[in-house]
Amino acid sequence: MSKKILVATEKPFAKEAVDKIKEIIGDAGYELSLLEKYEDVNDLYKAVADADALIIRSDNVTKEVLDAANNLKIVVRAGAGYDNVDLAAATGKGVVVMNTPGQNSNAVAELALGMMVYMARGLFNGKSGTELLGKTLGIHAYGNVGKHVARIARGFGMEIYAFDPFVAKEDIEKDGVNVCDTVEELYSACQYISLHIPANDKTKKSINAALLGKMPEGAVLVNTARKEVIDEESLLKLMEERKDFKYLSDIAPGCIGDFESKYSGRFYFTPKKMGAQTAEANVNAGIAAINQIVAFFENGDTTFQVNK
Ligand code: 3PG
Repeated sequence: MSKKILVATEKPFAKEAVDKIKEIIGDAGYELSLLEKYEDVNDLYKAVADADALIIRSDNVTKEVLDAANNLKIVVRAGAGYDNVDLAAATGKGVVVMNTPGQNSNAVAELALGMMVYMARGLFNGKSGTELLGKTLGIHAYGNVGKHVARIARGFGMEIYAFDPFVAKEDIEKDGVNVCDTVEELYSACQYISLHIPANDKTKKSINAALLGKMPEGAVLVNTARKEVIDEESLLKLMEERKDFKYLSDIAPGCIGDFESKYSGRFYFTPKKMGAQTAEANVNAGIAAINQIVAFFENGDTTFQVNK
């Protein structure tokens, strides 16, 4: 019997990506079910009921979604972070969960540098700004996105530092990046910090005033990772105490109201998470997701499984 592949994206892929996914599904002899821009989670419950595989973006795959799925064997998060999938529930139901690491990293990195330029130029307010050339940049976590950030920042002539206890020192240094041995060292050295840590039990609320307060004069925090890694209460305290401190985030924090009422000109938040929202990233991640599903069904390939 033909396999049903559900692509459920509250924030849809670019058309080009959907067309390519459709083509690969057709070639494999599978059937596509497309659920885009859904507002009611019940629509997802209904759509997933008879799906064999599910492709998502930041869509939440909760225990309830998994319970509503009667045939589901695999969920692929087209992207890097899989904090939106209940891994324990998936494992409990024997559902394989994968991500597509690296496929949308350049898009996220370009947005991080873009937001830095935007803030350095006073949010394009027509007044005199500053440049990135010669400024210090700290990359917190040197994974796929961090590497691209370093590559682009090198073009801007920034002095680059990184902290990542999971990456070999030599692998960071060969990119011309200075390695910091502690996270405190990174924040003390850098005017700009770009966050690339995942959101998990260890990292949630880990970026707090004690750490951010170490940043030098003119500090700019750039968050294209997850809003959950920020201790918002402590960030607001710092915004109050340090008039020089600025915050840029891909998706607004919960405390956006405080920023809007008190810190005009010192923040920018995207209206919707858009780091990976490019045609190229959608095509890369979407194709990788469907190819991984085909390889899983046809050859039992579990290379990118994250709930092993
Ligand atoms: C990721 O983890 O890959 C990014 O945050 C992209 O998320 P998105 O697919 O919702 O744009």
